[in-house]
Amino acid sequence: MTRVFSGIKPTGHLTLGNYLGALRQWVTVDQHRADALFCVVDLHALTVDHDPARVRRLSRQAATLLLAAGADPELCTVFVQSHVDEHARLSYLLECVATDGEMRRMVQYKEKAARERDRGGSVRLSLLTYPVLMAADILAHRADEVPVGDDQTQHVELTRDLAERFNQRYGHTFTVPRATRPEVAARVMNLQDPTSKMGKSDDSGPGIVYLLDEPDVVRKKIMRAVTDSGRDVVYDPEERPGVANLLEILAACTGGDPAALGEEYGSYGALKKDVAEAVVAELRPVWDRHRELCADPGYVERVLRDGAAKARALARPTVDAAYRAIGLLPPAVEAVEAVSEAEAGVG
Ligand code: TRP
Repeated sequence: MTRVFSGIKPTGHLTLGNYLGALRQWVTVDQHRADALFCVVDLHALTVDHDPARVRRLSRQAATLLLAAGADPELCTVFVQSHVDEHARLSYLLECVATDGEMRRMVQYKEKAARERDRGGSVRLSLLTYPVLMAADILAHRADEVPVGDDQTQHVELTRDLAERFNQRYGHTFTVPRATRPEVAARVMNLQDPTSKMGKSDDSGPGIVYLLDEPDVVRKKIMRAVTDSGRDVVYDPEERPGVANLLEILAACTGGDPAALGEEYGSYGALKKDVAEAVVAELRPVWDRHRELCADPGYVERVLRDGAAKARALARPTVDAAYRAIGLLPPAVEAVEAVSEAEAGVG
């Protein structure tokens, strides 16, 4: 069966953009058709200035929301990255396969490092090596597919390069993954600045619908979304990005087509009202389930514990194989197995 791996970074509260752009595809499609692993990638949250208590809180919240959105532990594996040592263990080996030049060419690194320097801050070394850890996440689990947004495709390309290079140098060890784009995803833009993505890390409240906003806050944010000059409702992402964004959100929630939906509206006000109600209706089950899960924190803990155990068991043999292939001496217990395997002609 196809294996799918994806990660959520606990650096901010999850948004409607994360939900319609990724999470919803994971739970409605991926977990049913593939062997899916969904990981709260907390180690990645330490690559920039961070507050320990906040990372902890956001990690638990991301896991809870993933379950509230419909991730079913009977169908998929939900776990926290730092609970499974294999990620960090493999990351070091991949650092010995990747080059300094490759890392410095990563667009996201260049952008984030420049921003940090402009603020007079220092750049953590882990920000540079981050894509290698991401490659380790993917390769440790032998993922075939990695559903990611555009900003992450370069990292998946790097992962492919590292897997191929490792396999070529040290013998076939890793599955070479590919990035996939969610089929049912919408690209949700910031309501106050419809030319930039509704991301979770840029914490400018009014343009971002957070998954845990109260219904009235959601309505208010949508009613106050910037629209474009002009009055008629037409779907034109280039010239009318604000209205196009609202139509995209409506289409994502109701299953229609944004251009066709545009023709049904005579005013921005009527459109916004329907978008607000459609989003509230779409999020209602997530809120309800989230409330139930918060009332039973033991359940979430158990899911994460079982998920980590499953993920560990899955990753361990691949990472062990990589340790052997690259030339590291197996510890004594394994040495006995390795010798008998070699004698039996396995591996
Ligand atoms: N880098 C991804 C992001 O910023 C998160 C991530 C980490 C990830 N490891 C991953 C995504 C592995 C997919 C697969 O969104």
